[in-house]
Amino acid sequence: MNTQLRGFIDALYADGVAHDASHPDRLLRRRNLEPATAELLSFILRTAGARHVVEIGTANGYSTIWLADAVADTDGHIVSVDAATHDEARENLARADGVQPGLAERVEFRQQDGGAHLAQLADHSVDLLFLDAERVEYPGWWPHPVRVLRPGAVLAVDNVLSHADEVAPLLSLLAQEAALVQATVAVGKGLHLAWNRAGKHGPDERVA
Ligand SMILES: C[S@@+](CC[C@H](N)C(=O)[O-])C[C@H]1O[C@@H](n2cnc3c(N)ncnc32)[C@H](O)[C@@H]1O
Repeated sequence: MNTQLRGFIDALYADGVAHDASHPDRLLRRRNLEPATAELLSFILRTAGARHVVEIGTANGYSTIWLADAVADTDGHIVSVDAATHDEARENLARADGVQPGLAERVEFRQQDGGAHLAQLADHSVDLLFLDAERVEYPGWWPHPVRVLRPGAVLAVDNVLSHADEVAPLLSLLAQEAALVQATVAVGKGLHLAWNRAGKHGPDERVA
């Protein structure tokens, strides 16, 4: 990320923090990913060589811009899904693209329920899936969050330490997936990571 884009994205984050502080209704807040979590997720995307990236929960596009910068290094693209409109995210991505040209062409926004979107994706078609929407809904999306992971793909879920009770049912489902190697990282609000090692230890080891 060039220093101009870093300046832009840090300002966007600071604006989000101020916005959220003045909005008591949680659903009206931006609830952007913590910068340290965004940095780690971008690093993982790069080291995994992820090209087909799906984000569920766009908000104003803060995390999407981080991911767009990272997929520029893997020649990938992002589909960012939100149940709400993407007006703010489109505007912020366009502004980011003005600072670092080439970002916007790597992103496709979809206004859709996250579970419905995952349900329509092909098996093993996603390299990195980032879940940052309504946490209690994730178990209802089963088995699609793991079915779509290609061998070597990464599933990342935010807020697993800040909202451990809400995420517990999801983590129980993930714990039953023998092909997933998992870790919870105490960064930001807690990032849970699952790597699909399917096929690496015999043909019978598969997700979903
Ligand atoms: C925590 S915010 C996302 C923050 C964003 N990832 C960032 O770091 O900038 C959660 C978003 O999930 C969206 N959302 C909630 N339920 C959803 C669902 N079922 N499907 C898709 N998006 C959903 C909300 O509209 C909201 O914009």
